[in-house]
Amino acid sequence: MIHDEIETLLRNKIGLNPETLGPRAIATAVNQRMKSADITDRRNYLQQLYRCPREMEALIESVVVPETWFFRNEEAFNYLRHYVIFEWIPHHSHRALRVLSIPCSTGEEPFSIAITLLDAALRVQNFHIDAVDISKQALQKAKRGVYRKNSFRGQNISFRDRYGWETPEGYHLSPQVRKSVNFIHGNLLNPLFLYNNPPYDIIFCRNLLIYFDVEARQRAVQILERLLAPTGLLFVGSAEVSALSGRFISLRHPMTWVYRKADPRGDRAENRKISAQAAPPVAIAPPPISYSPVAEKPAPTPNPTPESLLDSARNLADNGRLHEAAHLCETYLRQNRTDADAYVLLGEVQGAAGHEELAEQSFQKAIYLDPNHVDALLHLALLKEHQGEIASASGIRQRIARLLKLQGE
Ligand SMILES: C[S@@+](CC[C@H](N)C(=O)[O-])C[C@H]1O[C@@H](n2cnc3c(N)ncnc32)[C@H](O)[C@@H]1O
Repeated sequence: MIHDEIETLLRNKIGLNPETLGPRAIATAVNQRMKSADITDRRNYLQQLYRCPREMEALIESVVVPETWFFRNEEAFNYLRHYVIFEWIPHHSHRALRVLSIPCSTGEEPFSIAITLLDAALRVQNFHIDAVDISKQALQKAKRGVYRKNSFRGQNISFRDRYGWETPEGYHLSPQVRKSVNFIHGNLLNPLFLYNNPPYDIIFCRNLLIYFDVEARQRAVQILERLLAPTGLLFVGSAEVSALSGRFISLRHPMTWVYRKADPRGDRAENRKISAQAAPPVAIAPPPISYSPVAEKPAPTPNPTPESLLDSARNLADNGRLHEAAHLCETYLRQNRTDADAYVLLGEVQGAAGHEELAEQSFQKAIYLDPNHVDALLHLALLKEHQGEIASASGIRQRIARLLKLQGE
């Protein structure tokens, strides 16, 4: 009973759907907090939560999942860079680009955005990045700008030499990058959240809605709609797209979940136009600067190595050449039958081409090969949601949340 009341309190305060953390997660967090606060009776602890905002904060700290890393889902940053070079700079040179990263956790996401914008030849005074999180501990770490190995999980870490340096303590970001992000403590579900701020041209809201219950997602989406400029871009995580339906229109770029506001009158022709508008900055021309060898690699040579085959498949997929990308993935998989990442890529390509059944089989194979493959699980959850299999999707989400929690420990 008291346990239910504590869960409801967390739902109302931060939107948390306790199921996403696994069956015992909240109970474990509450027990730990009671021990630290020297309280033995649950009812007394509940009263303490109502009475003392600091205790509420401490409980929130112990249930949030701060998992993040630099250039997570790198294609989103490639998309942003192309957008800035080919759309923003030519049309908006008179004012600064306004960006919001929420939730920003320990800072890797907003700093990746800053590096992307600097790489796109914007100067620090040409953009403004606000980065928000509910966790004060995460924000404290973000403000230090010092990172360990776990924050660098992508293949491309060449940016590290250009924007910071190694020390025995960890990798230090340069002051130029650190100063370009404005960290703010805040709750996305607060109706007055950033109320008096001008709208943002770019919002990254990734890997937060997956932890929310349905009602909180709706509230969050309304607030995001208010915060985004009329022609602004909203980036979400792959498992979060279903929350946006009706209010935002997908720009349908492979492996990037980027959206624009839908036409407020619900005009279908207008929405088709919005969807067609921003999809291809990538197709206009190759980028002048790249930290991504994958995006720049040429077509496969006559005797490609297995790695170059897969890189080329990614490159083709990124450019929307889905049929050829699938063919290369399949060729690669014939020689490398146990590569879970390759099955995930194949599934993404099949999904983008509208072959949901095939995509599902590929994600299942990846999970069979690597039961802890978070990306494969996320894609599968998303597919299940599209197919209306909500219970199955939420089971997979719980599994992901447990995995992320374990990895974060
Ligand atoms: C998994 S991290 C996502 C970080 C980053 N966006 C990414 O995709 O890598 C989730 C973060 O959401 C924050 N969070 C949870 N509920 C929140 C809320 N209601 N408002 C703002 N931040 C919240 C947590 O503190 C945690 O740092």
